[in-house]
Amino acid sequence: MIKIDYSNVMSEKLGEREGILVQEIEAYRQIILDLHKEIYNRKDKDFYFMNLPFQDISKIKETARKIKENFDCFVVVGIGGSALGNQTVQDAVNGLDYNLKNFPKFYVLDNVDPEKFALVMDQIDVRKTIFNVITKSGSTVETVANFLIVLDMLKTVIGDNWKRHIIITTDPEKGFLRKFANQEGIESFDIPPNLGGRFSVLSNVGLLSAAVCGIDIDELLEGAKYGYQLCEKSIDPFGNPAYLIGLIHYIANVKKGKTISVMMAYSERLSSFVNWYRQLWAESLGKEGLGQTPVKSIGSIDQHSQIQLYIDGPKDKIVTFLNIEESFRDFEITGDIPTDLEYLKGKTLKQILDIELEGTKAALVKAKVPNLTITLDKPSPFNIGLLIYLYEMATGFSGLLYKVNPFDQPAVEEGKNFAYGLMGRKGYEEKLNEYKNLSKITHLLEI
Ligand code: PA5
Repeated sequence: MIKIDYSNVMSEKLGEREGILVQEIEAYRQIILDLHKEIYNRKDKDFYFMNLPFQDISKIKETARKIKENFDCFVVVGIGGSALGNQTVQDAVNGLDYNLKNFPKFYVLDNVDPEKFALVMDQIDVRKTIFNVITKSGSTVETVANFLIVLDMLKTVIGDNWKRHIIITTDPEKGFLRKFANQEGIESFDIPPNLGGRFSVLSNVGLLSAAVCGIDIDELLEGAKYGYQLCEKSIDPFGNPAYLIGLIHYIANVKKGKTISVMMAYSERLSSFVNWYRQLWAESLGKEGLGQTPVKSIGSIDQHSQIQLYIDGPKDKIVTFLNIEESFRDFEITGDIPTDLEYLKGKTLKQILDIELEGTKAALVKAKVPNLTITLDKPSPFNIGLLIYLYEMATGFSGLLYKVNPFDQPAVEEGKNFAYGLMGRKGYEEKLNEYKNLSKITHLLEI
């Protein structure tokens, strides 16, 4: 079960200046009706993620079974939407200690930071490792660069059998990696052409690693399916959780000046979910001068780092707290407790974490900082699938509210094109010249 408590964004708690009036949400009823129709018309086009709960996953399950029998480590090679979702599902469902106790161990090679690359490679034996190279475009520099180094290693260490150690997940027709997979006869999975990278976690992109790591992917998709059904049947802004989340953030932004959306997880296993959300919200909505800057926070750590600013700094934030009721492990404070610390006696760490969250929420309400709390009873695959689906729908819906395309990322391409120019890629010579003009150092302090 998931609870969305939005009391602390409403005017009853925060007053009319900072809080949202029921009527302000009601005013969007007709717009919601129109957008609802539009979304369902676009289901097989750019809102393709809506189809994922209903896909056939038999090939994924069969492949995962074979991988589990034959390999000790599973490494995702991908970045952005081709990696963040994998880590999200893994951490949320299996917890952060999965690799300490289980096989196949799970790693992600996303960055091209050589020290991170080494950190992963130093923990695995390539002879017992399978690499899942994931890229929708088939050409993302970081992914291709990491892959080429891995490929060379595999050929050197394994010899003729290297192909057994690679699975490619990419576009069914386009891109370098599709060509490579076809030519070399490497096992591959398709990424549906209409599916955007950051909306792809519940496709072949995220499901294979999840299944390999023992996550019940039927349940994950059942959760997403429940999300689909909830959203399909309700055009009531107070009954449709995705539209409610989208609308609250949109009104908070355009009417109350909340340009920053903080997501603060009071559960470290949801830390990767916040990374995933950050990409989804930023890359989908940050367009044409619009959007909200997503900020990551972890409770209670960031109470000692960020909360001062959230409460007493600019009134430009809306905060979403994430919490999980169940904790698989807990520790009670017992033994000889000094009198000064008597109030901690018998409390568990989880109880203290929950109390810290309550204290923070109350402090935010007192300072009239809007905040909502999303509580999962447990980090089950069902709940995580549901939460992912709701945030994907909230993001797609918000894109339509802002009247931007939530599924492209034109501004990301510019930096990539300069990098291609710098790396000497054919056809990007003009970009190199433009880069040289833009990057001239005009003020420098060397110390
Ligand atoms: O959401 C997106 O489309 C992007 O963030 C991509 O996921 C990211 O750039 C990686 O792209 P690709 O999967 O093509 O390697």
